[in-house]
Order: sequence, then C-alpha cells, then structure tokens
Amino acid sequence: MKFSDQFETRFAQMLTHYPTKRSVLVPTLLFAQDEVGFLSDEVIAEIAGRLELTELDVRNVISYYSMLTTKPRGKFNVQVCTNIACLLRGGEELLEHCKKKLGTGHKGTTPDGLFSLEEVECIGACSWAPAIQVNYDFHENLTPGALDKVLDEYKKKSTQ
Ligand code: FES
Repeated sequence: MKFSDQFETRFAQMLTHYPTKRSVLVPTLLFAQDEVGFLSDEVIAEIAGRLELTELDVRNVISYYSMLTTKPRGKFNVQVCTNIACLLRGGEELLEHCKKKLGTGHKGTTPDGLFSLEEVECIGACSWAPAIQVNYDFHENLTPGALDKVLDEYKKKSTQ
C-alpha cells in the first residue's frame, strides 16, 4: 500500500504530537480516505499495522464516525442535516429536494459518481439552520433554490 509523500509527512508529524500511536487513528483515517476515496480493506490493514492495532479495532472506530466510510462515495458527499434545528427550518424539505435533484436516496450515489447523498444528525451549524455539509465545506441558511445553486457550483467545479 503506497500513500503520497504528503500523507507520509503528515503521518510522521502526527506521531510526534500524541503520546500513543492509537491517538492518531482518526486523523490518519481521514487523510487516507481523502487520498483513496474510501477506507478499503487494504487501507484498513495498512493503518492497523502501522498503529499496532487489530483491523477490528480500526473497523470499530470507522463504524462510529459517519464521516468515515468503507464504501466508495461520490466525489462530493452531500450531508443534509435533519436534526431538530434544521428540521424546524426546512431540513426535511431540503433533503427531499436533494433526493429529487440528484435522483438518489440516503447513502446513494449518482450514476456519474459525482454526488453521494446522506441524511445526517446535527453537524454543529444549528445557528445557521438549515445546513448541509459537502465534503469539508458547510452551506447554511439554505432554501431549495439556494441548494440548487450550491450543487450546480460543485458540478461546475468538477469540469474545471
Ligand atoms: S440541527 Fe442541523 S446543524 Fe444542528
């Protein structure tokens, strides 16, 4: 398993910042996922070996965090919050709108591999509800019309 030089530099630096190898597990998984697209069996085995953990230890952590995935996702992972603050301000409507626009449901991916969709719990942007997260970016105070623009921008980005 070969990661990029950038990954290796970050990994080596992180090991010096924490008292135990296990402490770097979550950030290492995130960096690996950003590089590979998802946490494949090969990635899990590699990281478990490096951190002296069992693959089961690693899988248990992955299953806890919704931002980590063992399955390929679209290039843009759209997470729509339908928790209470967003729910009260149109989160459900946004999710339905997203489903129609993308033609896919919860945990689905568009046939072109561009977008994945997920309904999620609170993403910590309650003051600006309703909110969505696309990869690492937040989009807040959304309406269906504003959401269309956000998704269209990502589509445009993918062709640049
Ligand atoms: S409830 Fe949606 S961001 Fe908190």
